[in-house]
Amino acid sequence: MSTEGTESPFTQSTGSARHAVLAELAAAGPVHRVRLFTGVDVWLITGQTEVREALAHPDIRRSPEQIPHREATPPELAAAMHQHILSSNPPDHTRMRKLVAAAFSRGGVAKLTSRIGALAAELLDELAEAGADGSTVDLVAGFGYPLPITVIAELLGVPPERRADFRRWSVIVTSGPAYPAEVYLGAARELLDFLRELVADKRAAPSTDLLSDLIAVRDGQAALTEDELTSMAFLLLSAGHETTVNLIANGVYALLTHPDQLALLRAESERLPDAVEELLRFDSPVQVTLPSVTAAPVRIGAVTIPAGEVVVPALLAANRDPNRYDLPERLDIAAAHGSHVAFGHGIHHCLGAPLARAEGRVAIGALLERFPRLRLADPAAEPERVPSLLLNGMRELMVRVD
Ligand code: HEM
Repeated sequence: MSTEGTESPFTQSTGSARHAVLAELAAAGPVHRVRLFTGVDVWLITGQTEVREALAHPDIRRSPEQIPHREATPPELAAAMHQHILSSNPPDHTRMRKLVAAAFSRGGVAKLTSRIGALAAELLDELAEAGADGSTVDLVAGFGYPLPITVIAELLGVPPERRADFRRWSVIVTSGPAYPAEVYLGAARELLDFLRELVADKRAAPSTDLLSDLIAVRDGQAALTEDELTSMAFLLLSAGHETTVNLIANGVYALLTHPDQLALLRAESERLPDAVEELLRFDSPVQVTLPSVTAAPVRIGAVTIPAGEVVVPALLAANRDPNRYDLPERLDIAAAHGSHVAFGHGIHHCLGAPLARAEGRVAIGALLERFPRLRLADPAAEPERVPSLLLNGMRELMVRVD
């Protein structure tokens, strides 16, 4: 299908409307030429097999020009924000990923997993108090958002007394153009200054956090540079929390709008890990991976994409591919669908997937257990989604907990 010449409805829609547009595209085939709201014509991939092919292809490469909101970042900040693994290619990617993966597997993440329950319980106490009189409460602002930010803050070793600042800058910087340019830039500068200071402190006095591990881990002469370290911290912040908040909010919304599935999960809580996988598939937190560029003509499915073209693998569509799933539009926590591509595929496959899964299970499990009468404040209204190309999230999710 070709929509060349006019902007694709794909980039103008959100939520269930976007699922519908993608389903219509997917019915016509796995590879499409569409125009983004930026005016750029791209190749949108909707088939799951083809998405995997594209993400594993050595001639489809990350390009700095394709980083979203990049134009909002002045050059002096860009170097310290964008030199991370998600936007790099081999051999840089290979070197950095090895170091970061080594730091991730050094036990800090596993230890952190046991903290998530305590953090979730604290936030649920606050929600219970706010909603005890029947008032509506926002699950995004009060639970889904602060939980992963606090987890990342602990992961990086942000001292408790700086958590509030860290959270304030993070909200602004990861929201990008939603804030006036001077507010965004002010927060980005403060956050980067803080991260540089944090790196210096950890270097002087290493601790048991991931940042200390990243500084300490050595791979021959291939240690991370200062800019790579701050960029990596910056990536963990955005990759680690904007996605997890979407898993929690989209997941809870999906359960609340499918009472039979919610009842099944409440009755058989051992289904929680499978339920989280199904929620990741059904309304994936990440819509498309970072757009990439063909370094040579590349064949995806039956289509040859010329060199120099932008390729956009749509995880949201691939997770509802009618060629991959019998009933892709149906939420079924007992279906045992097997794999999905919510965490991407290939060399950039999500490094934080075990942590994200742990956060999703603990958060959703604790929420359901704490609030047996949890329900949508307005069952007739679809929550407003964040207008983003990369992510699939909600601005707010109003519920009652009493
Ligand atoms: C990469 C999804 C949580 C760290 C990715 C990618 C996806 C993804 C789709 C690949 C993007 C691309 O190819 O452009 C998710 C989802 C999450 C989640 C759905 C939550 C439900 C986390 C967490 C962390 C994390 C909690 C760490 C604290 C990373 C990193 C990469 C990445 C470091 C880059 C890997 C590389 O480029 O080699 N994630 N993520 N993610 N994610 Fe996650």
